[in-house]
Amino acid sequence: MNRTEELKKIKDEVLNLKTSPLYKVRVKNKVFPVIGEGSHYAKIMLIGEAPGRNEAKTGRPFCGAAGKILDQLLASAGIERKSVYITNIVKDRPPFNRDPFPDEIAAYAPFLDRQIGILKPKIIGALGRFSMRYVMETYGLKDQAGPIGELHGKVFRTKFPYGEVTVIPLYHPAVAVYDARQIPNLKMDFKAVARALKELS
Ligand code: URA
Repeated sequence: MNRTEELKKIKDEVLNLKTSPLYKVRVKNKVFPVIGEGSHYAKIMLIGEAPGRNEAKTGRPFCGAAGKILDQLLASAGIERKSVYITNIVKDRPPFNRDPFPDEIAAYAPFLDRQIGILKPKIIGALGRFSMRYVMETYGLKDQAGPIGELHGKVFRTKFPYGEVTVIPLYHPAVAVYDARQIPNLKMDFKAVARALKELS
């Protein structure tokens, strides 16, 4: 199976994930899971938290207000959105955009792990504390995990099953939706991603 076929298999499995705590509400609301979008050969994978209303309506990650901020941040760092792969740790929308519960993270994380294994990104940008915590705890950085306020923009190198990966915790773009004064901080985080990308070549 090639990468596209493997990712399609994940999509089919998530669509039918009746054991997920968020399955029933998705079907009732006639919305979609959000699997991911972007280059299947991306060097950078960005991992958000969970779909919001617009994302669940369209099945596309970061296509609402937080997505507009993300687009600005990528542009400011000189990174093309279509060159990265964007996904979330939780693939279905939690009601009222509340924080994901631990059982929801546990239900969807195996799909994220498979996406990482398929795409083998060299750089992972973890958007927000939930994906930061999961990635750091799962992939050899447990000892260095801490509050996102302290770790955002910092660069960690760690071993994944397929090789070395640079992990960068990033503030979630949604923090700037209601407080535009945060944008310069968020842009600085993305500069760290751009620098890590340059260092690869
Ligand atoms: N917030 C996220 O974490 N992910 C999305 O896809 C949209 C908003």
